[in-house]
Amino acid sequence: MSKALMARLDRLLANLGYGSRKDVQALVAGGKVVLDGKVLKDAGLRIAVDATLPERMTIRGAPVDPPAPLVLIMHKPLGVTCSHKEDGEKIYDLLPRRWRLRDPGLSTVGRLDKETSGLILITDDGDFLHRVISPKRHVPKTYLATLDRPLAGAEDEVFAAGTLMLDGEEKPLLPAVLDVVDAKTARLTITEGRYHQVRRMFAAVGNHVVALHRERIGGLTLPADLEPGQHRILPAAEAEAVFDV
Ligand code: URA
Repeated sequence: MSKALMARLDRLLANLGYGSRKDVQALVAGGKVVLDGKVLKDAGLRIAVDATLPERMTIRGAPVDPPAPLVLIMHKPLGVTCSHKEDGEKIYDLLPRRWRLRDPGLSTVGRLDKETSGLILITDDGDFLHRVISPKRHVPKTYLATLDRPLAGAEDEVFAAGTLMLDGEEKPLLPAVLDVVDAKTARLTITEGRYHQVRRMFAAVGNHVVALHRERIGGLTLPADLEPGQHRILPAAEAEAVFDV
């Protein structure tokens, strides 16, 4: 069960991106905020906030946006970046506009390259984010890689050995598991998150990744009905599946 925190109404709505404190005070004064069927008149009212709030509160007749902490699962399409800073289309552009104004803000849990598709988590929960990407936890991530050349046959042993050094690095990679799908397709499960790791691993064995798609993080699989660019809210208990490995 989610724990309810108390928050001032104007602060809550400002943090959810509904406008400045002044804007949301005007919204309340205009009778646009309804809680449990009652129009709220006092923007300074303290209310209990938990994941059920969108079932209880409406703003201009629409359910209020989900409060923090929020975890989203997204099917990242090709061609968008996970960075807030880089040029070009960003993964955040695929979310509702107001969500870009939230405080705390939303960030991806680790990153996928612009030309990698698949499962990505997005959250405003710093504790959850750090637990997933912590190098100490070794949360496994599974990628489907399409290769330029046929596999030579010994890549699984090279990746499993725990001795592979990537160019410019000082520590060998941890053991990784390769499952061959066909001559030019393989699933690779890694437990680290080094820069361009999967592409560099195949480059290290003389191959080249032509397409990369993340299928799984820990115990969480990309749902088959989540189309590229779509996202869904993950209830806290489902998000914890990441650690079920
Ligand atoms: N490894 C890569 O090379 N790219 C990604 O996006 C993720 C893992």
